[in-house]
Amino acid sequence: MWRNKNFVRHYASRTLRPAEVILLVRHAGAFSGRVLELGIGAGRVTGYLVELAAAVHGIDVSPAMVDYCRSTYPTGTFTVADLRDMSGFESEHFDAVLGANNVLDVLGDEERVRVLRDLRRILKPGGVLAMSAHNRAHIPYLRKPTDLRGARNLLRAAGKLALIPLRVRNRRRLLPFERSEADYALVNDDAHDYTLLHYYISRDSQVRQLDQQGFQPLECLDAEGRLVDVGQEASESAELHYVARRGAGGGDGRSAPAA
Ligand SMILES: C[S@@+](CC[C@H](N)C(=O)[O-])C[C@H]1O[C@@H](n2cnc3c(N)ncnc32)[C@H](O)[C@@H]1O
Repeated sequence: MWRNKNFVRHYASRTLRPAEVILLVRHAGAFSGRVLELGIGAGRVTGYLVELAAAVHGIDVSPAMVDYCRSTYPTGTFTVADLRDMSGFESEHFDAVLGANNVLDVLGDEERVRVLRDLRRILKPGGVLAMSAHNRAHIPYLRKPTDLRGARNLLRAAGKLALIPLRVRNRRRLLPFERSEADYALVNDDAHDYTLLHYYISRDSQVRQLDQQGFQPLECLDAEGRLVDVGQEASESAELHYVARRGAGGGDGRSAPAA
């Protein structure tokens, strides 16, 4: 879906979440070096990265998104590529990798773990991975396909009403693929009218997963930028933002104990 459809208008924005602003400021050292952004979309964060970083390389599986970023942010390097294949990048090349707007959540568990391992490979020792992920504790608050909340006027409500049959159909199709495992869940949420499955993970499971893949988790923030500590769920936040440092070890997946 991401490769074949043109979502440039849907994602064209320069609006950062409060958590993203805080993380970019707090880790400005890493973000002023060589930066890789995964799933750039229409450059919502990329536009700031090209101002901050010595060099930005952005990838996206969608040619339309890459064309848009090339013409809008000519100082960056943008390529059509799948984040599941990092073989084109040298080891220990980047100071920071960014996966904004839950982009890693398009992957299943095995792929996600493999990609995290590969991100570790291409980061310099001490380099920083900043990513967000759907918050598993928020699942009970997800909208149903028939939900008309959020329609600010009658016209919007009518538009939502008209979409219900499509949404219900999409949901029925993907419902059998939902999963709930000990460490994560795969959920057919309301994104793009229920056409996708997304990976949802709790704060503590995500921190553990990063630790197991050789990262030292530094902090977790809710969308508003508030610290989410060990054991906290922050269930009102649909996504959580993580920053982790690449451990200095030799690639056996071990690093300092999880935060
Ligand atoms: C939710 S959008 C986020 C866009 C942007 N990062 C933002 O924050 O606005 C996800 C982006 O990831 C891209 N994407 C999806 N699967 C991908 C994959 N396997 N490899 C690279 N990019 C992918 C999509 O084309 C889309 O542009």
